[in-house]
Amino acid sequence: MIKIDVVIDLSFGDTGKGKVVNHLITQKPYTHCLRYSGGANAGHTIYLNGKKVITHMVPSGVLHGITGYIGSNCLIQPESLIKEIADLESQGFPCKNLIKISPEAFVVTSKHLTEDSQDSTIGTTKRGIGPAARDKYARTGIQAKDVELLKPFLSDFYEEFYSKEAIILAEGAQGFYLDLHYGDYPYVTSSHCSIGSVLLNGFNHQSIDRIYGTAKAYDTYVGLKKFQPDDEVFLKIRELGQEYGATTGRPRQTNWLNLDNLIKAIRVTGVHDLIISKMDVLNSLQKWALIHNSIIIEFASEDLFKGYIINNIYSGKCPTIQNIIFSSNPNDLD
Ligand code: IMP
Ligand code: MG
Repeated sequence: MIKIDVVIDLSFGDTGKGKVVNHLITQKPYTHCLRYSGGANAGHTIYLNGKKVITHMVPSGVLHGITGYIGSNCLIQPESLIKEIADLESQGFPCKNLIKISPEAFVVTSKHLTEDSQDSTIGTTKRGIGPAARDKYARTGIQAKDVELLKPFLSDFYEEFYSKEAIILAEGAQGFYLDLHYGDYPYVTSSHCSIGSVLLNGFNHQSIDRIYGTAKAYDTYVGLKKFQPDDEVFLKIRELGQEYGATTGRPRQTNWLNLDNLIKAIRVTGVHDLIISKMDVLNSLQKWALIHNSIIIEFASEDLFKGYIINNIYSGKCPTIQNIIFSSNPNDLD
């Protein structure tokens, strides 16, 4: 029997998936963890045993000693994956023997990197994602199974998952609004960050058990489109929330939480548990606002802000939702 819990970002990435994975992993006897989308463009910040750890391709569950799969919808940059594994090992996380890679995943080559390094239109992470995805769809790409460096890590997911009881924690990368279809094209990544990506690893939809959706008390986005309104308050939010990219160090643009977008992402991905992080940032500003029906609504207190979100999400708009959790600091889910 296969049971999968999914952690999915409902925004533009960077909403604390790592923190949620870190918490969940201690709550259930997961047998495997799975990274189901993205590549070296992703940056996941995790606080573990008092250390700040940043991962890119390695699924976070590996840091807890659980076997981690890099799925077929991922785009792998072999050299940087090997380096990431070595870095984690040197930080005290033995993970070399825990990582397995789908033979069908595609790779990012040095040509892809050179091409993407010249991007000046959408503000990519310059990790070769767009060119590698283009070659994958043009059927000229290279798969993990044909790359010497990756051979020691290859594993047949089908055999592995169907031969015994598997309880899998699936961790996405990027976010719903960076999805090639659901995002604001062309300001998107070149793969699917929505729930369908999970199933590309040989599962059927009935294997999915619980879906955890992550968002922040405000929105952030990294890239070249204008996202942040011209108001000093958003610069303060950036500083208070330390909103700088984990992969490229770029400042993230910020805006109020867009509740219209959040509701759509919850509906389309079928979230059961919604985790809204970084309430502490709005609390220390003593300003609470969000965008609903395309209008900015301000609140006099944290409770009114939370109450408004809870009422609107529960009021029949998001029938799958069972829990809404607001969190503040990195470890407060523990
Ligand atoms: P690419 O995925 O590097 O091609 O970048 C496409 C867009 O997605 C750019 O706006 C990136 O900043 C954004 N992006 C890609 N990966 C992430 C991520 O993990 N977090 C936040 N933004 C990302
Ligand atoms: Mg990130």
